[in-house]
Amino acid sequence: MACKITIVPFHTLALCVSVLAVMVMLLHMQGVEAQQQPLVKGLSWKYYESSCPKLESIIRKQMEKVIKKDVGLAAALLRVHFHDCFVQGCDGSLLLDGSSSGPVDSEKTAIPNLSLRGFDVIEDLRKRVHKQCGAGSVSCSDITAIVARDTIVLTGGPEYSVPLGRRDGLSFATRNATLANLPSPFVPTDTLLTNLAAKNFDATEVVALSGAHTIGVVHCSSFGQRLYPTQDTTMDQTFAKTLKGVCPTANTNATTFLDLRSENVFDNKFYVDLMNKQGVMTSDQDLYTDKRTRDIVTSFAVNQTLFFEKFVDVMVKMGQMQVLTGTQGEIRNTCSKRNSDNLVISNVVEGHDTESF
Ligand code: HEM
Ligand SMILES: *[C@@H]1O[C@H](CO)[C@@H](O)[C@H](O)[C@H]1NC(C)=O
Ligand SMILES: *[C@@H]1O[C@H](CO)[C@@H](O)[C@H](O)[C@H]1NC(C)=O
Ligand SMILES: *[C@@H]1O[C@H](CO)[C@@H](O)[C@H](O)[C@H]1NC(C)=O
Ligand SMILES: *[C@@H]1O[C@H](CO)[C@@H](O)[C@H](O)[C@H]1NC(C)=O
Repeated sequence: MACKITIVPFHTLALCVSVLAVMVMLLHMQGVEAQQQPLVKGLSWKYYESSCPKLESIIRKQMEKVIKKDVGLAAALLRVHFHDCFVQGCDGSLLLDGSSSGPVDSEKTAIPNLSLRGFDVIEDLRKRVHKQCGAGSVSCSDITAIVARDTIVLTGGPEYSVPLGRRDGLSFATRNATLANLPSPFVPTDTLLTNLAAKNFDATEVVALSGAHTIGVVHCSSFGQRLYPTQDTTMDQTFAKTLKGVCPTANTNATTFLDLRSENVFDNKFYVDLMNKQGVMTSDQDLYTDKRTRDIVTSFAVNQTLFFEKFVDVMVKMGQMQVLTGTQGEIRNTCSKRNSDNLVISNVVEGHDTESF
């Protein structure tokens, strides 16, 4: 079937895209496997096969409950893995007390505008896993990577395998390093491509990574500059009016969804938003303005399978950024503390559902 994409009303496009999506889903029920990309030395697909065979089922089962109770945690936890990997590698360092990306209320050093949450979910899973497989069995950084995959699957995204064997870092990044390594929502695609090329991501990968914004929320302070003092011309008028209602000033403490078409579903609608000038942040919307990324956005908007394939590949790649393996780092006994700062090993699972595994 032919889906013509030039300036069709977005309802038509959405219909066209959703028909395609259904076709594509039928063809693709088994999930997407990452293309066999070579793994970083020290990681493997079956790392815990004998030492903690139930690892992934323990996490999946619990994540189903967590997300059923609060679907917003899916996005929050996906973002935690991204921030972990981009700043000093996927070593769980942002889980440490005192990290500038860490829990805002744990230490004063956290950068408030990062507004990450979900750390307690990771620590609760760590307890469940260590209860089953023993202290020192599975790293907090691996748990974080598995959790990220599960947030995607449980909101409707592709199933994929996660390379495992990460070790936890012994120190967290400085505030400056944190800010320097996270892409800014205020920059045009040109800057985003340059910044992410330095981390070895190409244009297709940058567009695919941004597709994580198919779930979750964003504060006014991350896009208010597109509304005030003058309205960004690459924003749809009606959409701008809605956002101004949410954010009467540029820094109102309120949030809106990143993907207005399907806010809690992991799908390709985010790219349809961009084609209709309904992306929220500059860094997202400009992907459809820049000639280098425009066609990639379109290709993902019309073909969810293609998006899922590229997204899985880039998640597996991102999940291997600067990882610690072998005898590097450690396996923390509490995700928020280095073992040397924490001599008490806690396996007690919080909450009432302490069923055995
Ligand atoms: C490409 C560059 C990226 C930029 C500039 C960016 C920036 C941002 C910003 C500013 C927010 C909103 C923060 C707030 O206002 O509260 C956000 C939210 C989010 N980001 Fe990104 N991000 C990028 C890539 C990624 C990647 C690679 C992922 C995951 C793989 C990701 C996942 C998310 C999610 C899920 C949310 C919603 C969080 C929630 O609802 O709690 N982002 N991002
Ligand atoms: C977050 O706040 C810090 C200062 O606390 C500022 O330097 C940085 O630019 C802000 N980042 C964003 C994305 O708003
Ligand atoms: C962090 O960055 C700020 C602003 O760029 C700079 O003034 C300060 O010296 C830096 N601090 C460290 C410890 O590098
Ligand atoms: C924003 O609002 C939330 C919930 O209403 C509150 O918990 C948070 O502390 C507020 N943040 C700021 C910076 O005022
Ligand atoms: C969508 O992308 C997939 C994966 O690359 C490809 O196999 C398929 O042919 C594409 N579908 C259409 C309708 O173009």
